[in-house]
Amino acid sequence: MNDLFGTELEKWLPLEKQIRATMADFGFSEIRTPTLEKIEVFSRTVGDTSDIVEKQMYTIHLPDEVLVLRPEGTASFIRAVIEHQLHQAAGAQHYYYYQPMFRHERPQKGRLRQFHQFGAEIIQDPSPRADAELIAFVDTLFRRLGLSDFRTRINSVGCKACRPAYRELLTQFLKGVTGDLCEQCQIRLERAPMRVLDCKNESCRTIAARAPKIADSLCSECIEHHGGVKSALRLLEIPFENDPSIVRGLDYYVRSAFEFTASQPGALGAQDALGGGGRYDGLAAHFGKTDISGVGFASGMERVILALEAARKLPVPTKKQMVFLAPLGMKAFEFLYRLSFTLKRDGIPAEMSYDSEKGLKNLLKLADKRDATFTVVVGDDELLKSVALIKTMKTGEQAEVPLEGLPAYLKNKVIRET
Ligand code: HAM
Repeated sequence: MNDLFGTELEKWLPLEKQIRATMADFGFSEIRTPTLEKIEVFSRTVGDTSDIVEKQMYTIHLPDEVLVLRPEGTASFIRAVIEHQLHQAAGAQHYYYYQPMFRHERPQKGRLRQFHQFGAEIIQDPSPRADAELIAFVDTLFRRLGLSDFRTRINSVGCKACRPAYRELLTQFLKGVTGDLCEQCQIRLERAPMRVLDCKNESCRTIAARAPKIADSLCSECIEHHGGVKSALRLLEIPFENDPSIVRGLDYYVRSAFEFTASQPGALGAQDALGGGGRYDGLAAHFGKTDISGVGFASGMERVILALEAARKLPVPTKKQMVFLAPLGMKAFEFLYRLSFTLKRDGIPAEMSYDSEKGLKNLLKLADKRDATFTVVVGDDELLKSVALIKTMKTGEQAEVPLEGLPAYLKNKVIRET
């Protein structure tokens, strides 16, 4: 869990601005949900066999309830949709969130215990066009953030009608090769056989390549839906790959599942997922509602920053302008103290020394260390003449300016230099 400040945080701010602007361009409005949720919000939906529910949730046991720190956004979102009846509005609804998530994972490069997800969800549009709209939106957002080296991989994970038969087929196949699976996949085999398909272990990957493909077991509705997603993406000219290994680690997905991965090897350490998502019609049924369709994605901000850093695409922060006020004596202090307030109120960053006895040399040294753009020196002599001495720190250039016009003069200078 990281503290964020200074130059590190400065990398985040323009990206956050771009995320919010692009979300707005595509019609997504923001939703913020509480950090704490009842445990059932996730255990019922993300799934008992998922890594998240099995071992990654920060859990608070109270006498009358069990709460968890939100590990992901979709289940919280649907809880809020139902609570506020958002699905009753006419037509499809578009929402986005940008919030910290918490997973008790083993930390490594690109994997944190508190990380920040931006995610978007479209509810009440079951058509494949909504899936493609969402994927096309993510493609645009990533490119606007400066990412170009990523892959978009999509798959269909079937539905309630066709997935059980595929799971059975896959389980039978995997039972024949149990000895070659990694330890974790041998456990997964019984409870979540499809997770074996996205295991990173080399031997499991070889087995996965030979395993029966879900595409061959899809029901006609799922085949039609998946075909619809692909043709809508082609229509929008969004590059993608069809990849049967995309199964996702959360239980609520039906039909579309997709992942966005960084192409540069090692950019995200051992991780490569910049984002992931899919369709989750049926998730709402876990809250006692039958029919709310949904499709969405989420992406980790920290991973996006790592990928941009590796590609040298992070926006360079611009140097901030700052006026330093240097008082020589008590009278000058009072004048500059008021001026400092006026400048800040007018939107000009100003700093000053509250020690009026420091002396010119020390004050100029301090201004230099604080990286001031201009220093305003006022002492008894200047007050007598009703002027201030303005020093441009980079060039050493000095000018005498009448006190009366000082705020306007500085404002003009700061704007010109910015
Ligand atoms: P997820 O694949 O679990 O999906 O997470 C989405 C993204 O969050 C990942 O691709 C990764 O970029 C980032 N992420 C996940 N765990 C960590 C971590 N420990 N440290 C840093 N980044 C991480 C979901 O959460 C779904 N709710 C996505 C979704 C939205 N599906 C439908 N709508």
